Amino acid sequence: MKAEQLKALYPTLQDIPEQHRLPEPIHERRVLVNGEFKQWDGPCNTVVSPIRLRKDDGSLAEMEIGSYPLGGEEEAVEALEAAVAAYRDGRGEWPTMTAGERIACMQEFVRQMVQKREEVVRLIMWEIGKSLSDSQKEFDRTVEYIEATIDALRSVDNEHSRFTVVEGTIGQIRRTPLGVVLCMGPYNYPLNETFATLIPALIMGNTVVFKPPRFGCLLFAPLLDAFKSAFPKGVVNTVYGRGAVVVPKLLNTGKINVLTLIGSSKVADHLKKQHPKAHRLRAILGLDAKNAAIVMPDADIDLAVKECVLGSLSFNGQRCTALKILLVHQSIADKFVEKFSEALAKLKVGMPWDDKVMITPLPDAPKVGAMTEFVEDAKAQGAKVMNPDGGEGAETLFYPAVVYPVKEGMKLYREEQFGPVIPITPFDDIETALDYVITSDHGQQVSIFDTDPDRIGALADPLVNQVCRVNINSQCQRGPDVFPFAGRKDSAEGTLSVTDALRSFSIRSMIAAKATDENRRLLDDIVTNNRSKFISTRFIF
Ligand code: G3H
Repeated sequence: MKAEQLKALYPTLQDIPEQHRLPEPIHERRVLVNGEFKQWDGPCNTVVSPIRLRKDDGSLAEMEIGSYPLGGEEEAVEALEAAVAAYRDGRGEWPTMTAGERIACMQEFVRQMVQKREEVVRLIMWEIGKSLSDSQKEFDRTVEYIEATIDALRSVDNEHSRFTVVEGTIGQIRRTPLGVVLCMGPYNYPLNETFATLIPALIMGNTVVFKPPRFGCLLFAPLLDAFKSAFPKGVVNTVYGRGAVVVPKLLNTGKINVLTLIGSSKVADHLKKQHPKAHRLRAILGLDAKNAAIVMPDADIDLAVKECVLGSLSFNGQRCTALKILLVHQSIADKFVEKFSEALAKLKVGMPWDDKVMITPLPDAPKVGAMTEFVEDAKAQGAKVMNPDGGEGAETLFYPAVVYPVKEGMKLYREEQFGPVIPITPFDDIETALDYVITSDHGQQVSIFDTDPDRIGALADPLVNQVCRVNINSQCQRGPDVFPFAGRKDSAEGTLSVTDALRSFSIRSMIAAKATDENRRLLDDIVTNNRSKFISTRFIF
């Protein structure tokens, strides 16, 4: 698609289906702190949609869809102090609730959240340009994640509702909160990935300071009431403002116990150093990735193409799990490139609400420039764009570019492009493909495409020690959410999954007593007369 054709895809006001229009801009002025909405009257950040509007004269205009507070250090510290006060050194209402009581609050939150589905889905589309069906999936998957988290906590708590006696010591072990969690999600899954850390952090009894991403901030507005009413005051507090200003300040205080961030390893490294006592800071991080597909000579080429198209271009390649380089055996490389380009040509480009759309606007115009730079750098070093019109751009739309052959030295070979550019590298010897993964700074996942069980087995063994998930004949992905989501090297710290996240945001604590008659009587009294929430054999049904 040429630039002119791309431009023509932007809608006029009348072209936007009624049900997908934003009724009015959202000017968020509420900051949730200590259970109250504080009205903000300071500077604000304007939110411009990636979707451009075609005017009567054919020109394209930016659409301002709202704004949100641009707080500074002072406001950030106020939110932090509210979270610290709500935690009250572990004596606050929230950290001392039973798991059953916290589950009840979370259920109330979900009850209110599902009523906001339509509003939130619409905002995901308008703020980050995600297709309607993917935005709906993001919302539904998040609700399912919360429900699964509730079930998982119920089982964990019930398993710990008992005593054990070992070598004359009676013990009871439970998972307890860590303190104040600073939670920051990414723009590509603003709801899902933020909640995949925020929800487990909360349900384990931590209090939270939550900073929404720069793109994908307004979509939390419909959920603020639910946060306010479902949880005790100070348990969830929002911070707006420039990350580079407010986040280091928060960490500098030494009062953040857990940093959870989905973002870049560079930022994470910098932030961790801001904490005055590094060992006190637990970090749960989802970071950079450059997942490779290795396509072997005997691969089912049509299947490999289908999965690689999905893997590299779902949500325009803006997934941390996206396939960001395709290593294809020389003997099938020409065929693969041809078939891949054919499949790409069939992808629908358009606006998020268009039926079956795959390629949609990127969050802002500089992102298109960044994609062009990747392509130009490779071209200057001898690679070619293999698909017709690959790399054409107009405003926020970028037509995907298949770049071949990509080699060491080109930016696309090692850097994470996080967008719709598909580098393809031919290899002769499997050692070259393995060496790519071994020498990479990233270690999230890999996909291998082959039909030979011997070779798949032999490849899987070294690869599982380099990355955390080896996908056989399928694209890389995070789900199902009960599976561990982790990474080596610069790709992650900590493991997320429904149950792993509960562990990540808590620590085991125990009571222990010598198994004397006196202690047995004491513990029996405590349990029988419900004198403790921790020392208890209650069961959550
Ligand atoms: O951006 C990273 C996401 O966790 C990827 O999730 O593989 O389900 O798209 P996904």
